[in-house]
Amino acid sequence: MESKLSNLKEQIINKMNDVKTSADIEKIRVEFLGKKGKLIDILKNIKNVEASKRKEIGEKTNLLKVEVENLIESKKEELKEKEFENKIKNTEKIDITIPVNDKIGSLHPITIVQKELEDIFTSMGFTVEDGNEVETEYNNFEAVNVPKYHPARDMQDTFWLENGQLLKTQTSAAQNKIMLKYGAPLKAIFPGRCFRNEALDASHENTFFQMEGMMIDKNVSIANLIYFMKTLLSEVFKKDVEVRLRPGYFPFVEPGFELDIKCPYCSGKGCKVCKNGSWIELCPCGMIHPNVLKMGGIDPEEYSGFAFGLGLSRLAMMKYNINDLRALNSCDLRVLKQMNIK
Ligand code: DAH
Repeated sequence: MESKLSNLKEQIINKMNDVKTSADIEKIRVEFLGKKGKLIDILKNIKNVEASKRKEIGEKTNLLKVEVENLIESKKEELKEKEFENKIKNTEKIDITIPVNDKIGSLHPITIVQKELEDIFTSMGFTVEDGNEVETEYNNFEAVNVPKYHPARDMQDTFWLENGQLLKTQTSAAQNKIMLKYGAPLKAIFPGRCFRNEALDASHENTFFQMEGMMIDKNVSIANLIYFMKTLLSEVFKKDVEVRLRPGYFPFVEPGFELDIKCPYCSGKGCKVCKNGSWIELCPCGMIHPNVLKMGGIDPEEYSGFAFGLGLSRLAMMKYNINDLRALNSCDLRVLKQMNIK
């Protein structure tokens, strides 16, 4: 019986050496370890072995069984690796010199403009912050100096949630949290999606994007505000842009302004984009109201700051010459194709 076992071992090793495919391995497995396999057969008939040898033969057979199982496993691994190598060598070649197909897909125009603005602002030392889309009434209104029953709330027809929270109507909703988080001095922008219950038309959507910014430090003045906005918009339009401020009312700033730019398309001569008005209203802004600073834990006697709320959707429309705001949320890929954005 012992010589039968060593004979079997030899057979198995020889057969294993000749293995070429996983089918060969399976054949060996069936021949030796299958239900009627040669090793299993010995174990089944162990009762017929002479009593004095039974234990030893049983142990040796079991050991050989484990050995064969291990051999089969490692052979399988070996084959797998070989097959993979063959694939790489012969069938699957990667040509890293093939030019990228940049016709496949593109970023959304709002994403492009947002990223561009983030690059410009971070180069000027601003951090980029995130705001929530679901906000508390306090953050969206009270903390930016718009208490309950303030008429300014009427301008922002709000989607209220059943739990008393709301979909943020303005990126200004993050001002308070950011002031409390960083304190002064502070330079931050916070882009985000805003929601208002608007009647939809070409220039009104219930969902739109803004980019808010704040700079707070000692002696920050309107001159700083103008400088930053001018630099920013000149970068966006890739040319020197003229800006002007008109008085505007927003409860969170004092004084508040509407910032206009001289139409970058016709340099103020009058065209379709500026509706022959030469100037385009682009960015409400102002000096942060002392109440807002106080609620943000910042002493208005020591610090001052400016804030602005740039309409990202609006800017994307101008940049890509889109005349219907609704196209931006339409999920219609033809819109992107039409804009020819790469
Ligand atoms: N939150 C205002 C809005 O959505 C825009 C705005 C105006 C933001 C003036 C500001 C600001 O930070 O200073 O209508």
